[in-house]
Amino acid sequence: MAGNDNRQVIVVRDAAALAKSAADRLLARIAANDGRAAICLTGGSSPKQLYQLLATGPYRNRIPWEHVHWFIGDERFVPADDPRNNMAVARRLFLDRCAPVANIHPIPTDTTSPDEASRRYESELQAFYGAERLDPEKPLFDLVLMGVGPDGHTASLFPGYPAVAESVRWVVGVPEAHVEPFLPRVTLTLPALGSCREMLFEVAGAEKRAILTRVRTDENLPANRALAMGETVWLVDEAALPENFGGR
Ligand code: 6PG
Repeated sequence: MAGNDNRQVIVVRDAAALAKSAADRLLARIAANDGRAAICLTGGSSPKQLYQLLATGPYRNRIPWEHVHWFIGDERFVPADDPRNNMAVARRLFLDRCAPVANIHPIPTDTTSPDEASRRYESELQAFYGAERLDPEKPLFDLVLMGVGPDGHTASLFPGYPAVAESVRWVVGVPEAHVEPFLPRVTLTLPALGSCREMLFEVAGAEKRAILTRVRTDENLPANRALAMGETVWLVDEAALPENFGGR
């Protein structure tokens, strides 16, 4: 990472420490907002330990559930109860037990196409935000969780796809994925994801070392272009850490 952007790398021992650190940061972001907090969740396997932790007493009891709204940064275009549906995973692991249903904002997948789903979700986000244009002084989200895929994708923004260059739309349909599961997707765009006080990448395990090596060289990858208007934090565990990545 070049050091000429707002990113910082925090190294933690292992996946359990990573989930705890992410949970503490999430709580701090919620506590810093004395109105209505908005959290944008992510899919994949990386956030699962965090989601499980949020449902446990020490975290669950400190979250003012009535005041927190939960969104999702990208979705696989499968029914809401399909195990591959990202919001279904978050619901099963913590939201359904903890959050009021009106505060859970899934990307609708009962639409005729990913494009129609993207338009509906964009309207929902705009209604929540109270405007149709993002104000550089007013973040949409308090915290956006992110992961990085083996090809450098983040959310469902795959290298070389037009969605990565989108600068006006908040949400777009993605007809096919670059990696498994090979399903059409719906994704928030870089401007919408970046409209946040904090963007938090969670990266754990030795299989992430190769892509982190590429991230470090500032290669033009979607994950390298994802930057918050506030802080961008890469939480990395020791197994995923390439030599000379920084943050040690
Ligand atoms: C998805 C994701 C995706 C994910 C990365 C990392 O729907 O698959 O939102 O962007 O975050 O692929 O996935 P892992 O956490 O499984 O490595």
